[in-house]
Amino acid sequence: MTNVLILGANGSIARVAIELFLKESDAQLTLYLRNSRRLKNIASNRVRVIEGDVLEIETLKEAMMGQDVVYANLAGNLEQMAKTIVEAMNATGVKRLIWISSMGIYDEVPGQRYSSILDSYRNSAEIIEVSDLDFTILRPGWFTNKDEIDYETTQKGEPFKGHDVSRKSVADLIVKLAEAPGLEIRKSLGVNKPE
Ligand SMILES: NC(=O)c1ccc[n+]([C@@H]2O[C@H](COP(=O)([O-])OP(=O)(O)OC[C@H]3O[C@@H](n4cnc5c(N)ncnc54)[C@H](OP(=O)(O)O)[C@@H]3O)[C@@H](O)[C@H]2O)c1
Repeated sequence: MTNVLILGANGSIARVAIELFLKESDAQLTLYLRNSRRLKNIASNRVRVIEGDVLEIETLKEAMMGQDVVYANLAGNLEQMAKTIVEAMNATGVKRLIWISSMGIYDEVPGQRYSSILDSYRNSAEIIEVSDLDFTILRPGWFTNKDEIDYETTQKGEPFKGHDVSRKSVADLIVKLAEAPGLEIRKSLGVNKPE
């Protein structure tokens, strides 16, 4: 049984992942979010909720106690968030991090120029990559709400394939990574729907 801490638990991917974790695994989930009233329809004895901001390091460290996996599903000041999360993980001895980023951070999308909109995605990924953590960074394409699990991955250094990917596909990969301790450690994966 894996203990998973989900940061930004009301995010659009996180909500789909929570549903899949409850359906497909026996993981114990700790949902960390700024406003717990936003969470709807999650009734399970495998779920615990902590209200907090990811930038509040003391609350974050408390939430990390006893966790096997941290899955960060965040938007906003990602650089500061990455720094705080790495520090809290180092302080509490939690090694495994699944970090949701975006396609394009390495200028790896054929036919698309790198845009500075991605700076906080690129810089936060770099903070994680130079840490000692067992990270997997996911770089999904554009999200769709299609009710399908259909994806492939590309490694850092390879061109990104495709264009979009369903939220359910990204959630499926997150559950697999959380449940299989050695999978794609210290890797950064593009995630797309095969064309
Ligand atoms: N849309 C796309 O097609 C696409 C494609 C590739 C990558 N991405 C990126 O993938 C990531 C995940 O996507 P998503 O759609 O699941 O994101 P989302 O729905 O925007 O969720 C992000 C979550 O981060 C939380 N958050 C922000 N600042 C926080 C803080 N200081 N402390 C705690 N929580 C905080 C927000 O919480 P509140 O509810 O409290 O605001 C929100 O629930 C995002 O960075 C997104 O930009 C998106």
